[in-house]
Amino acid sequence: SQKIIIDCDPGIDDSLAILFSLLSSKIEVLGITIVAGNSPVEMGFENAKKILAHIHRLDIPVYCGASQPLKKEFVNALDTHGSDGLGESFLEPIPDYFQEESALSFLSRTLKKEKCSVIAIGPLTNLAQLIQQDLEAFRSIDQLISMGGSYKAQGNCSPVAEYNYWEDPEAARLVFETCDQTNRILHMVGLDVTRKIVLTPEILTYITELDPKEGDFIEKITKFYFEFHLKQENLIGCVINDPLAIAYLLKPDLCEGFLSYVQIETDGLCRGQSVVDAYDFYRHKPNAYILTKVNVLGFFELFLSTILNKKTE
Ligand code: BDR
Ligand code: CA
Repeated sequence: SQKIIIDCDPGIDDSLAILFSLLSSKIEVLGITIVAGNSPVEMGFENAKKILAHIHRLDIPVYCGASQPLKKEFVNALDTHGSDGLGESFLEPIPDYFQEESALSFLSRTLKKEKCSVIAIGPLTNLAQLIQQDLEAFRSIDQLISMGGSYKAQGNCSPVAEYNYWEDPEAARLVFETCDQTNRILHMVGLDVTRKIVLTPEILTYITELDPKEGDFIEKITKFYFEFHLKQENLIGCVINDPLAIAYLLKPDLCEGFLSYVQIETDGLCRGQSVVDAYDFYRHKPNAYILTKVNVLGFFELFLSTILNKKTE
């Protein structure tokens, strides 16, 4: 099985990604690091614990990371994810779970010790701070997969920017620049592919028929998200971005893409835009693999078979 650290900001779709990875027999989650994003970092920390409690996996350590972006002011996305960050499901808080170690300390020591991939599904602040404090640890990451950015799909929080890179564009820029300088490839799971992953009422009904407990839980945390999508874009269903990053790790051939050089705009009208040099204007070696196509049916086959075959006891 593949060892991973999930760096996230739960968040409704982050929570589905956490569930998905923990229920997969092919993944070993070494820890979950939290970054400020959809929810403030303490709320994200609480939410990760609530999800772990739901599948009886409170043995998985959760670490608090950055509480704000490198330079920009913090702007949460509770309008999208509900006032509790979990679709206003108001799940029971989990008492007696403390974690003194910081996300950075955990990332540093773990990445240098083990072959481990990082699946980043929130703003890239924790990874940027890791670069600033322990470049060797960053260089030791096995595969770096980031849900974020957009090549042709436009944005979801401005006409050109995707939320995770918009929220902390300096961090995203530093991560892409460092990939360039250290000759590594970041796998960019952007809106071009994630927007295709729509959880529909029919799929939810299917889950509930096969596993009422899991179905009820997913319905509880996604209800707000469904309403948001209906209001915002007249969509019957909700886009669940983050689980695709996990699916891509498990089965890369679910997606197609191309290698390219990517830079991130940090300010102005195009703040947070991922500028993909698809036509090689700069004659610069690639620092990213941009996903452009996804086998949606293949994604749902993998996602549903994993969450419905779980053994939690
Ligand atoms: C990303 O932003 C967040 O709202 C989601 O959790 C996802 O990581 C999509 O743009
Ligand atoms: Ca997220």
